[in-house]
Amino acid sequence: MQQVRASPLAMAGAVVAAAALLAATETRSPTPIINTKYGQLRGFYRSVDGYGLRVATYLGVPYATPPVGANRFSPTRTLSQWVGVHEAVTFGPACPQRLPNISNETAALTRMSRGRLRALQRYLPALKRQSEDCLYLNLYVPNEGRTSTQVKILLNIHR
Ligand SMILES: *[C@@H]1O[C@H](CO)[C@@H](O)[C@H](O)[C@H]1NC(C)=O
Ligand SMILES: *[C@@H]1O[C@H](CO)[C@@H](O)[C@H](O)[C@H]1NC(C)=O
Repeated sequence: MQQVRASPLAMAGAVVAAAALLAATETRSPTPIINTKYGQLRGFYRSVDGYGLRVATYLGVPYATPPVGANRFSPTRTLSQWVGVHEAVTFGPACPQRLPNISNETAALTRMSRGRLRALQRYLPALKRQSEDCLYLNLYVPNEGRTSTQVKILLNIHR
């Protein structure tokens, strides 16, 4: 990873992509420090039992200047370089949003599929931490050692 760059459309990150991995048992060890255009980054390797996968994981990677204060409601501004190593080990806050009320499962299932309900039950605790300062990406890099420069990228945008 040479640079971390994303359009404003990519905002809000790919929290959701983690779900399947988070559900499995995991062990963590730190990645080497990665140099990006904006500063140094260190994530962790996640070994997922039963899948034989080792996934370099970088959570809460900032990709734009936080849209707070004078930057509120303005076009996304390029990130300033950060100092030191950014430890990318926790999710950034979710963007402000009204969360669906799923306390009554029977009622919820009239509005959504069972799969969506189960997913929401997993994500809602994380989505309760909300802030306007929410322009962060979560990056998952399986097979990090591969030599090909062409890798498939799955971009998961949620609002
Ligand atoms: C969610 O819905 C239940 C009824 O299904 C209601 O009792 C509760 O007050 C609601 N909670 C919120 C936060 O709106
Ligand atoms: C949950 O929702 C169902 C369907 O809307 C309703 O019949 C039931 O009374 C609700 N239960 C509670 C505890 O509110």
